[in-house]
Amino acid sequence: MAAKSLNILRRPRRLRRTDALRRLVRETHLSVNDLIWPLFVYAGSDSEEVASMPGVMRHSLDSLLKACGEASRLGIPAVAIFPSIAPALKDPIGTHGLAPDNLLFQAVRSVKKEFPDLLVITDVALDPYTSHGHDGLLSHDGKSVDNDATVEVLSRLAVLEAQAGADIVAPSDMMDGRIRSIRESLDAAGHKDTAILSYAAKYASALYGPFRDAVGSKIGKDSISKSTYQMDPANRREATIEVNIDIFESADIVMIKPASYYLDIIREVSDFSKIPVAAYQVSGEYAQIHAAARLGWLDYERTRNESLVAIKRAGANMILTYFAKEVAEEISHGRGCL
Ligand code: PBG
Repeated sequence: MAAKSLNILRRPRRLRRTDALRRLVRETHLSVNDLIWPLFVYAGSDSEEVASMPGVMRHSLDSLLKACGEASRLGIPAVAIFPSIAPALKDPIGTHGLAPDNLLFQAVRSVKKEFPDLLVITDVALDPYTSHGHDGLLSHDGKSVDNDATVEVLSRLAVLEAQAGADIVAPSDMMDGRIRSIRESLDAAGHKDTAILSYAAKYASALYGPFRDAVGSKIGKDSISKSTYQMDPANRREATIEVNIDIFESADIVMIKPASYYLDIIREVSDFSKIPVAAYQVSGEYAQIHAAARLGWLDYERTRNESLVAIKRAGANMILTYFAKEVAEEISHGRGCL
């Protein structure tokens, strides 16, 4: 016996009936144009997998070029290159960061030479090069990270990155006043077209652990906390201040980081920002999805795709994600977008 129909005027399920209907009314599409692929490079001759990031490699220079070739073939617009520096080359002031022929500059030069159209993004921060793992220089008493002294070194680092060929420099240090100083230094050195992607609201997150494994920048237990410069995860309004300062100081793109736990921040910033907004789906977000999938507790592809669509839906114009290549592949075999 057929149940009596309810007298319902609006039946939202009508538009969910078939895949074609769902595609027709879909509000958010993730395309390959939205993706930035972070890549790690080290001085070894064979790439090695990062233990806490399945499928993510610490690339040799050769294999970095191969990865960039794949990015290019898949139409991924940009890669972000992070160096993993040998401990012997690190010191408290990150001297190696400014060495003219260091691993990062070599990597950027070879990638730009081989793939001139692929955008290269470089981090502006000292953590890959400092023995203590902080993003900047310590004060004389060693009790804090010295803001102004750090900004000066970072400005020099940004110029060297631009000289090596970086299209976009991305200060990830969270020092105050660095965007303006970096812009002025880039301009003075003739790099007017080098863009600044500012890690504007970067939170002191537990989710960077696997990244610190990847680049070897673990902070000692008794060391200063990164909470003295990265943002408190409990704060929302403060993120709008950070973003506004960086826009005012001439950032070309502002970034929120991490992404999935901070969708409210991405939404809020994208509602008011007149410049593009990026989000960084960080190493710990990637690791969580892999770990749960390995245990058989979550469906890997669905969770991965949902996480990315959610970040886009929250308002991000572009997403740094370790999933970039595999998602680009899925998109290219499918209908052009997720
Ligand atoms: C360093 C930097 C970090 C990340 C990007 N740049 C780590 C940190 O601040 O300690 C994290 C990225 C990730 O976890 O994927 N300046």
